[in-house]
Amino acid sequence: MIRNQWYVVLESKEVRQKLVGVKRLNENLLFWRDETGKVICFVDHCPHRGVALSAGKVLDNHHVQCPFHGLEFDNEGRCTVIPANGFSADVPSNFYIKRYLTHEQDGFIWIFWGDEAKSVEKPLFFSSLSSLAYRTRQDVWKAHYSRVIENQLDCAHVPFIHRKTIGRGGNTLVDGPLVTWKGDRQMMMYVFNKKDDGTVPLKPEQLHEKDEDEQRIEFIFPNLWQNFIQAKMRVVVAFVPVDGETTIMYLRFYQGFLMIPILESFLFALFMPYNLKIAHEDRRVVETQQPKVSALMMKENLFQADLPIVEFRKKRDELLRNSKNYFA
Ligand code: FES
Ligand SMILES: [Fe+2]
Repeated sequence: MIRNQWYVVLESKEVRQKLVGVKRLNENLLFWRDETGKVICFVDHCPHRGVALSAGKVLDNHHVQCPFHGLEFDNEGRCTVIPANGFSADVPSNFYIKRYLTHEQDGFIWIFWGDEAKSVEKPLFFSSLSSLAYRTRQDVWKAHYSRVIENQLDCAHVPFIHRKTIGRGGNTLVDGPLVTWKGDRQMMMYVFNKKDDGTVPLKPEQLHEKDEDEQRIEFIFPNLWQNFIQAKMRVVVAFVPVDGETTIMYLRFYQGFLMIPILESFLFALFMPYNLKIAHEDRRVVETQQPKVSALMMKENLFQADLPIVEFRKKRDELLRNSKNYFA
């Protein structure tokens, strides 16, 4: 996992006033909201004797209290009182909890997983989604998040894995695909699969970007993906790393066609199970991939259609090298 990145880790509605302990990015983390409603994220580990603070409680919407010996911490993670030393005693400066910066937007919660001083910009998100309605489902995959992401950048698998759903029609020949970059963190992928007509696949440089309102796939590093089906219909996925072998997919279906609640519910009732069914067609094979973690230099034999995966691996490798963390 790449340090010093903004990761989507939860949905807003999962964090209310109470303490929420979850495993993310291979760490036990604690989430809560202070009196202003701001989401606070701490490492879920009391600096006294290692108890999970998530078993404690929030005091006055402003402090977290450890359940074991009652130490209290403010929203910056500083210990404000050690009851056994007396309420008037000073607290030594080594009594603090590691905190991660948070950002909340469009119903998602991000943390800056790394060194606060290195967070210069706010996280990116996909544009013009705020006028659309959405529903989210969580889906647990027993796979490293790099493999789960790569599956969503893989256009050669569609007519095989999704033979009976989105891959009907046998479009096995992959022209390109074409990959372009929007800034440093956002990858756009244009797919041109077709029936095998006996020709050789076109090279990416023989293809052109589609119009702005046509279908494309977008990926924002490190863990956000969008299938832009059309302006009013999108699928957005946050690939949330739990540990090295577990990823939770936060799968969202957005639509802007039916905004009357009862019709909206009808549409979601139709599409959410369908999207999950497609995801499970993928999950069955991705969970078998070895090695568990993908890498730029690894023993795989790739072909032209794998270009988006190569682009993903190159950028991931660069970010890993920059963050000096090779244990990803
Ligand atoms: S372990 Fe938390 S107060 Fe002692
Ligand atoms: Fe798939």
